[in-house]
Amino acid sequence: MTSDAFQPSRRSDVAPFIAMDVLSEAASLEASGRNIIHMEVGQPSAPAPKAALRAAEDALKHGRLGYTEALGIKPLRAALASHYKKTYGVDVPAERIMATTGSSAGFNLAFLAAFDPGDRIVLTAPGYPAYRNILKALGLVPVEIEVGAETRWSLTPEHLREASQGGPVRGVLVASPANPTGTMMSAEALEALILYCEDEGIWFISDEIYHGLDYAGEQKTALETSQNVIIINSFSKYYCMTGWRIGWMVLPEQLVRPVERIAQSLYISPPELSQIAATAALDAVQELEAVKDGYAANRALLLKGLPEIGLDRLLPVDGAFYIYANISRFSSDSLEFAKRMLHEAGVAATPGVDFDPVHGHEFLRFSFAGSHGDMKEALARLSGFLK
Ligand SMILES: Cc1ncc(COP(=O)(O)O)c(C=O)c1O
Repeated sequence: MTSDAFQPSRRSDVAPFIAMDVLSEAASLEASGRNIIHMEVGQPSAPAPKAALRAAEDALKHGRLGYTEALGIKPLRAALASHYKKTYGVDVPAERIMATTGSSAGFNLAFLAAFDPGDRIVLTAPGYPAYRNILKALGLVPVEIEVGAETRWSLTPEHLREASQGGPVRGVLVASPANPTGTMMSAEALEALILYCEDEGIWFISDEIYHGLDYAGEQKTALETSQNVIIINSFSKYYCMTGWRIGWMVLPEQLVRPVERIAQSLYISPPELSQIAATAALDAVQELEAVKDGYAANRALLLKGLPEIGLDRLLPVDGAFYIYANISRFSSDSLEFAKRMLHEAGVAATPGVDFDPVHGHEFLRFSFAGSHGDMKEALARLSGFLK
């Protein structure tokens, strides 16, 4: 057999995360002794809540960590059901809630259970790049729709109507608050989109990973409008548990068993230690609200400080911990600009091209999940750099 036979599959040809270039350059600058402020990483700098750490320590000492049910341990699923009642006033039976290995595993499972190869799924651009990469790797077709200020950076039923001119739309994936924009949909806009999908038989997938991190606007779960939606969520952001790789889904009744079957073969179960820690994290509201207060202070500082140094075209920062800034006054090549900013100012941010192939060259995403001191220092450094 010639070596031509041993080639990677066509579907493995997904785009790399360009931000990783900035990250690895930042790491080598740090290794050479430079001080770098990290505003490129989309993760909290705070550790997992104390109650989660205590529960995990206890489990390590006394438990025999093993496989769990594919859908997750019952106490976690029950605690998540109460979380929906407490937070949104919504009744969801624990049987429809499933623990996953981060929300990332949730996407794989949801896409596999709801879609067939070739199905078209609508996403926003800008948007989280893994959506389109996972869809492509699974043989699905991402249909990216450029959104802008006129629809407050979110999708509308009109967008979906237009997208179906190119072939039937089988699903739509929405995040509110969104990454990289930090923008939230209004309750009315979200409801209108969900109801349109319900009428048209389009799966509505709601990535609610940044729920809990809202500063302006009203936070609504898609479950308040319909029980036919797929909810994806995670302990990574609000709960400060990125490395624990633990998330969850709320599924419509008819998807529970299909997802369970696929999960049994793909992952067996999410890590038991993380499930135990996550169950405890759900009660750590006081500690987590203090972390959120820190983000809110960083947000206020940057929303005042960035315009003063020339970055005055910012998208609405309703939630999450990102500011998506238009840099076209300074550059039309966000990758080159991010690299120069890293080298000259020692501030790392993510170039918009990762999130939006069309307009991303004019944007940078700044994460404000770091310390308040770092945010102040970043403003001082950027002020010199942008002069
Ligand atoms: C919008 C969005 N969804 C999902 C994820 C994946 O998170 P995890 O797999 O850690 O739950 C991220 C991570 O940055 C994200 O920004």
